[in-house]
Amino acid sequence: MKVTVVGAGAVGATCADNIARAELADELVILDIKEGFAEGKAQDISQTAALLGFDTHITGTTGDYAKTAKSDVVVITSGLPRKPGMTREELIGTNAGIVKGVTQNILKYSPDAIIIVISNPMDTMTYLALQSTGLPKNRIIGMGGILDSARFKYQLSLQLSCSPGDLNAVVVGGHGDTTMIPLMRLATWNSVPVTKFLSEEQQKQIVADTMVGGATLTKLLGTSAWYAPGAAGAALVESIVRDEKKLFTCCVSLDGEYGQKDICLGVPVTIGRNGWEKILDFGLNAEEQALFNKSADAVRSMNDVLKTL
Ligand code: LAC
Repeated sequence: MKVTVVGAGAVGATCADNIARAELADELVILDIKEGFAEGKAQDISQTAALLGFDTHITGTTGDYAKTAKSDVVVITSGLPRKPGMTREELIGTNAGIVKGVTQNILKYSPDAIIIVISNPMDTMTYLALQSTGLPKNRIIGMGGILDSARFKYQLSLQLSCSPGDLNAVVVGGHGDTTMIPLMRLATWNSVPVTKFLSEEQQKQIVADTMVGGATLTKLLGTSAWYAPGAAGAALVESIVRDEKKLFTCCVSLDGEYGQKDICLGVPVTIGRNGWEKILDFGLNAEEQALFNKSADAVRSMNDVLKTL
């Protein structure tokens, strides 16, 4: 398997590091436009191989897409990250041009690749990647809900004093501070609804903290988070290359599922060798569906901005 990560910034490098450690690829390419940067990250990660015991061959390149040829999976992290106080949506003008250009270059050399989009605003960048390439919809996956669900589990685990790994909890909708929808009703602690153990007030706080999970970190770090976003990207790569068919919330093209069309939004999907394979449309209740529709409206108006660029 060959995997390419475009963008050697903090998210891209962390994603690459996770991919290498787990030996998800025989060949891993990191590409960046900043002179020598990807080469440096590739060497640094490669020098952990003897310590950590992996055999993934890692190459870094400054903008030479020929080196990415015949990749099975490509993770796109390019673009500006958030600064404190910034929404993900404010990045659209700059990042749209970058994501479009990267996707086209990638497909020149890897026409069969499955593409994972991490660049923000992710829901709109995923939609852009799909529209501008005309690829089959299953081959474009936006990374957002998997990360937001991990953050939801983190917040739940703090309140419940439990292991995040014992929790099942899902965030659907957009990957924005106001568009994501943590589904408290369906969250369980090893099959027992968490609502049995949490007051209304605690539940509200967990939902609110989950929704601003990324913004909280941007404030603390001065830029976007990278450990969890990088790990989430690598988890998607793993489910693809190992054909695990894991159920993750990802941003995918909807065609009537969840009552929406002509939009990419976060819903639970199985991820396997063909990209996203099946949408789990389990039926939101009226209140959740209303939130989902509102989230879709917000993402749709963001997508409309693409037409003005
Ligand atoms: C975050 C960015 C990656 O949520 O969107 O941290």
